[in-house]
Amino acid sequence: MSEDIFKKLVAHSKEYGFVFQSSEIYDGLGAVYDYGQNGVELKNNIKKYWWDSMVMLHENVVGLDSAIFMHPTIWKASGHVDAFNDPLIDNKDSKKRYRADVLIEEALAKIEAKMEKEVEKAKKRFGDAFDETQFRATNPRVLANQEKWDALHKRFADALNDNNLEELKQIIIDNDVACPMSGTKNWTDVRQFNLMFATEMGSTADGALKVFLRPETAQGIFVNYMNVQKTGRMKLPFGIAQIGKAFRNEIVARQFIFRMREFEQMEMQFFVKPGTELDWFEKWKETRMSWHQSLGFGAENYRFHEHEKLAHYANAAVDVEYRFPFGFKEVEGIHSRTDFDLSQHQEYSGKKIQYYDPEEGKSYVPYVVETSIGVDRMFLQVMAASYCEEEMIDGKGQKDTRVVLRLPAQLAPVKMAVMPLVKKDGLPEKARAIIDELKFDFKCQYDEKDSIGKRYRRMDAIGTPFCVTVDHQTLEDNTVTLRHRDTMKQDRVEISKLYGIMAEAVSMKSLFAKLK
Ligand code: GAP
Repeated sequence: MSEDIFKKLVAHSKEYGFVFQSSEIYDGLGAVYDYGQNGVELKNNIKKYWWDSMVMLHENVVGLDSAIFMHPTIWKASGHVDAFNDPLIDNKDSKKRYRADVLIEEALAKIEAKMEKEVEKAKKRFGDAFDETQFRATNPRVLANQEKWDALHKRFADALNDNNLEELKQIIIDNDVACPMSGTKNWTDVRQFNLMFATEMGSTADGALKVFLRPETAQGIFVNYMNVQKTGRMKLPFGIAQIGKAFRNEIVARQFIFRMREFEQMEMQFFVKPGTELDWFEKWKETRMSWHQSLGFGAENYRFHEHEKLAHYANAAVDVEYRFPFGFKEVEGIHSRTDFDLSQHQEYSGKKIQYYDPEEGKSYVPYVVETSIGVDRMFLQVMAASYCEEEMIDGKGQKDTRVVLRLPAQLAPVKMAVMPLVKKDGLPEKARAIIDELKFDFKCQYDEKDSIGKRYRRMDAIGTPFCVTVDHQTLEDNTVTLRHRDTMKQDRVEISKLYGIMAEAVSMKSLFAKLK
């Protein structure tokens, strides 16, 4: 899918009630979005898939819903006040601001794209006889680019690890990175910029308390560790899962809902015995990759990406990346956060935050493996993977195209549309009676406007897996036409069979069964 198709996807998301720009009638608010009637259903289904896979399928993972406002010292303890920064650089001609690290990542991606192009060309030339591994290991152009990539990657990682802002600027200059707006290489120095939003709470004689809008949900989990462990009588290893809003004053907010200022996270902190964290890290990597791949969008579209720079609290970190229309990008982060957060909160709060291990006969601060995924980014991933423009032959034998969202049925906003062939002869009443039977279990939609063909298209565009048409024969023998979204195949089925067909297709059970 190209950038061009991505633009169409953004337009489609608005046209079909998935995502709207926030405050649109006031010309919008940058990088803030609202979810429409179909978007909210898809989003809720994604959250359910994640939540149930965590807290229903794992006996030792429990949920939490902590407040967005928290004591400001939490953010001092976690390191966010001092170190939650992005390195920014401005182009002096366009006056546009960029993240220096993103500019360099894009330069790396360009080299990667050159290598991929060579491989693709050779693949076409050699056909079945093509040996990709051998080609990559021997082709001079690929090897030269690989060398270039390795050198740039190392220099970039070193600069990040040393927090060397001058070096980041120098890398941008040495690699001829130009501003996409002005086309010039007239850059300012790189500066650090804190991403937290602050506001004031209450009013006291001494003034109001400065509080932050949380930039991650994880800290709400850390500060409730003792509450959950004690009241739930939890034994290590165990996890706490949470879904909630997070806020970041992203300066470079682009690509629709990929990077937002208000977004939602699904995070799980898994508390383990020190020394076992790297084994659990590997386990959760596998579990989370399997969760992504079970949706059926093709294993080749996912990969792990090791972090260039480990956060100050981490001893291992990896991203799950998906092949978006604009390249492989992070959807989820998996981090081994050591005992950093709990130890910091223990120190700053003065309260003991430890686990008594009966086997060891001693207390210690648990280590933590975190899985952290953005709901909105996952939403974009699902939409991008599902959006299809298809050539087809319409009912009159004419060539046509249809836009279809090939959403996994379990995530689709509407599971079944029920349509009377005509708006008379008792067909609408019969259609509504079918919905009344099914609506307690499945989100159904009644539609009687326009031709059946147009109604099918509307449902394809929002990813509805099934359409049921009620006609005159239905009144005689209680059968309907069941039309399948992906194949457009139509079957005649008894109304009494609809429940079973739907239950099998849309139940999350079939997704869970595929999980490792
Ligand atoms: N607690 C760890 C943490 O917050 P992160 O890598 O900063 O780690 C985790 O964020 C996930 O949250 C990302 O993989 C991404 O899916 C999502 N995310 C982060 N910033 C975002 C933003 N500005 N807009 C949308 N999603 C975002």
